[in-house]
Formats: sequence, C-alpha cells, structure tokens
Amino acid sequence: MNAVLPMSFSRTIQTRLVLPPDTNHHNSIFGGKVLAYIDEIAAITAMKHAQGEVVTASFDSVDFVSAAYAGDMIELEAIVTGTGRTSMEVYVRVVTRNIKNGSKKLTTESFVTMVAIDEQGKPREIPAVEPNTEFEKHLFDTGPIRQEHRKAKRALSKNRRG
Ligand SMILES: CC(C)(COP(=O)(O)OP(=O)(O)OC[C@H]1O[C@@H](n2cnc3c(N)ncnc32)[C@H](O)[C@@H]1OP(=O)(O)O)[C@@H](O)C(=O)NCCC(=O)NCCS
Repeated sequence: MNAVLPMSFSRTIQTRLVLPPDTNHHNSIFGGKVLAYIDEIAAITAMKHAQGEVVTASFDSVDFVSAAYAGDMIELEAIVTGTGRTSMEVYVRVVTRNIKNGSKKLTTESFVTMVAIDEQGKPREIPAVEPNTEFEKHLFDTGPIRQEHRKAKRALSKNRRG
C-alpha cells in the first residue's frame, strides 16, 4: 500500500464532563476512567486513519500529572503520529478545564498502539502518515525511539513468559 494520509485526517477531539460516579473519595476522577477515555479516542482516531476496524495492542506508560474533579471538563485530543505496516502510534493529550475559573491544566499524555484488523481479526496493511505542523513533525521524528523501547519491552516480556 503506497497511500499517505496527513495527520490532520484522523485528528479527533472529545470533551467529557467529570460526574460523581466517576470519582473516588477525594472527589477526583478514577485513573481507570481516564484510561478508558484514552482508549476510546485512540481507537476512533486509528479507525479514521485505517478506515476500518482496529484493536488496542499496547499503552505506553501513563503518568497522571494533575487531577480532575467532579464538575471539571476533560478535553482529549488525539492524532496518529506514526505507522508501521499494520500498526499505528496514536498520541493522546488530556487537559482538564475548570469551568468556573477558566483554568486549564495538563492531566496526562499517552501513546497508544493500535493495530488495523481484517474480517478474520488478522493484522491488515494501512496507509502511512505525514506530519505538517512543527508539533506533528516532532512527534513523527521521535516515533522510532519510542518504537525501539516498545520492541525491547516486548522482547523482555516474551523472555519472562518463556
Ligand atoms: C495486536 C494483535 C492484533 C497483534 O497480532 P499478531 O498476530 O501478534 O501480529 P504481528 O506480530 O504481525 O503484529 C502486528 C503489528 O502489531 C504490532 N504489535 C503487536 N503487538 C504489539 C504490542 N504489544 N505493542 C505494540 N505493537 C504491537 C507489531 O509490531 C506489528 O506492527 P507492524 O505491522 O506495523 O510492523 C494481537 O496480539 C491481538 O489481537 N491482541 C489482542 C488485542 C485486543 O483484544 N485488545 C483489546 C484489549 S484486550
């Protein structure tokens, strides 16, 4: 497959409201809830790029740098930042907005690997991706380093399992 799509083709934005059932006894959102939001937007973004079904292959480590509380808005933005033959690296940025005082703070950033699949659930070839903005170029250029880390981590896991 020789097709190339710009990163903007798959760019996805979602806003969520933090509701009391999604929060713990500190009134802040469960980390697992944020991970579910990240997984969903990463899947939508990858489906747009692959123009078909995808599955989640892996999450890079996720650091929560600030909390979101009931009543806050969570803004998620995602783009496909790199591709292999069948896999896509999706960058997801999560920002929390306090609607009363207008403040915005980064909650987390994450890289998710999604794999395009065919009707039999087998990995399927996808188009390449092309960066345009400076930020997109930075994410694109640093992709191979992250990919190396993932490969090394998978090799270690394989050794552990035997
Ligand atoms: C992800 C999955 C489709 C890979 O299938 P596979 O038969 O191992 O296929 P391959 O080894 O050929 O890998 C296919 C691609 O996925 C990538 N990949 C596989 N496992 C990966 C991992 N853990 N992290 C990152 N990339 C991974 C490979 O590098 C390859 O990329 P490329 O084609 O761009 O070079 C398969 O393991 C699967 O279906 N897993 C379950 C997915 C799922 O159900 N997720 C929901 C949560 S449980």
